[in-house]
Amino acid sequence: MQGILVRLRGFEKSDAEAMNRWASDEDVVRWHGPPDWPASRAQQERYIERANTADSADKAFAIETLDGKLVGDCGLRKIDWKSRKAEFFITIGEKQLWDKGFGTDALRIVIRLAFDKMNLNRLWLTVLADNPRAVRCYEKCGFVREGLLRQESFVDGKYRDVHMMALLREDYDRTRGA
Ligand SMILES: CC(C)(COP(=O)(O)OP(=O)(O)OC[C@H]1O[C@@H](n2cnc3c(N)ncnc32)[C@H](O)[C@@H]1OP(=O)(O)O)[C@@H](O)C(=O)NCCC(=O)NCCS
Repeated sequence: MQGILVRLRGFEKSDAEAMNRWASDEDVVRWHGPPDWPASRAQQERYIERANTADSADKAFAIETLDGKLVGDCGLRKIDWKSRKAEFFITIGEKQLWDKGFGTDALRIVIRLAFDKMNLNRLWLTVLADNPRAVRCYEKCGFVREGLLRQESFVDGKYRDVHMMALLREDYDRTRGA
């Protein structure tokens, strides 16, 4: 599944090394909550195995640039087929590549997948309120803030507020003139 800058693909076992490096980088994982203990390559391999299981309720993908460099991962979890909704998550693990549009491009691919192929109705996510880069990325793709969860997450010694954000299918249809 291809965008303008990146494509999404399934995970390969060989992705575990880079993913372990990202999971061990506090600059990267602090945005998802605290890295309470060091990650391991074995953990990443188990994650990849689970992600590649066909009946998994989560769908996770590797993000690579069009010239084949692995830069991050993203996907949908808590897929709810009755209410037709799922939670979006993303990491551009190569932090020197932040702010180059890769995250926004990957999210746009997942939005198309969610609405055009999986027939979902609602994509939602939570994001630390003091993560303006991520908030901007989500807003560029049409997500709106639905609420503020006060002191929801304890990160780096402090309770932090978290935004609840979502994109509805009707918003998506409106922006593409459907
Ligand atoms: C959040 C993340 C996925 C975004 O991906 P990315 O490729 O870096 O983002 P993009 O380049 O597509 O967009 C980032 C936007 O934020 C803007 N931005 C960066 N820092 C900012 C700041 N301090 N305040 C406001 N906007 C900021 C950029 O200028 C860009 O907007 P623009 O295109 O209008 O100029 C990526 O940075 C990442 O994985 N970060 C670490 C993990 C993380 O935060 N995951 C999300 C958890 S909810």
